[in-house]
Amino acid sequence: MKKKILFMASGRGSNFRAIVEALQTGQIANAESAGLIVDRKDTKAAMFARQSKIDVFEIDYASYTDKAGFNEDLLLRTKSINPDLIVTAGFMRILKSDFVNSFSGNIINIHPSLLPAFPGMRAQKQAVEYGVKIAGATVHFVDEGVDSGPIILQAAVAVQPEDTEETLASKILEREHEIIVEAVQLFCADRLQIQGRSVRIKPSKSEK
Ligand code: GRF
Repeated sequence: MKKKILFMASGRGSNFRAIVEALQTGQIANAESAGLIVDRKDTKAAMFARQSKIDVFEIDYASYTDKAGFNEDLLLRTKSINPDLIVTAGFMRILKSDFVNSFSGNIINIHPSLLPAFPGMRAQKQAVEYGVKIAGATVHFVDEGVDSGPIILQAAVAVQPEDTEETLASKILEREHEIIVEAVQLFCADRLQIQGRSVRIKPSKSEK
């Protein structure tokens, strides 16, 4: 059975796009898209999804006066889709504990820093301001904290003295696209095993 992947994004959607392209070329096997949830109107992510004939579910955060209603609708919609894997890629909302508990071990997120350094917003700006020499990206399972779940993959990039938030972000983004695709591949091949804080990557059938 193919694994159903539900995506969540809030804007540009380049990580979402990288995964969809990998599904289309067969680089990610044994999986299919189950739709895209966006939390705002008129996103590039939704535009790309529609062009790619992927269902788009707009749950517009700004239109909710009662913000708890947004979380309820997000949970109900996701339950009705019943995905095997949820990928939050540039989704700018923190998932509530009832959501995380309902899909525990099946939600992965991409973050533009080498966690646990620089969680939260504008990680690349935080890295530049801190003066680190090595920055990067992390794919991790989502738990109830902010960017705190077990780490699946990381990729490093060197920070040059002339780097700004923008130049660093674009260097990191290239690596994000690589590791998010690889992490989804591994998940869909049932090769990820959470062991406490760590994620063990099981050998592929050919490596056994
Ligand atoms: C990425 O840098 C991601 O790591 C962060 O938000 C950005 C989203 O970019 N969480 P995109 O929408 O995937 O292009």
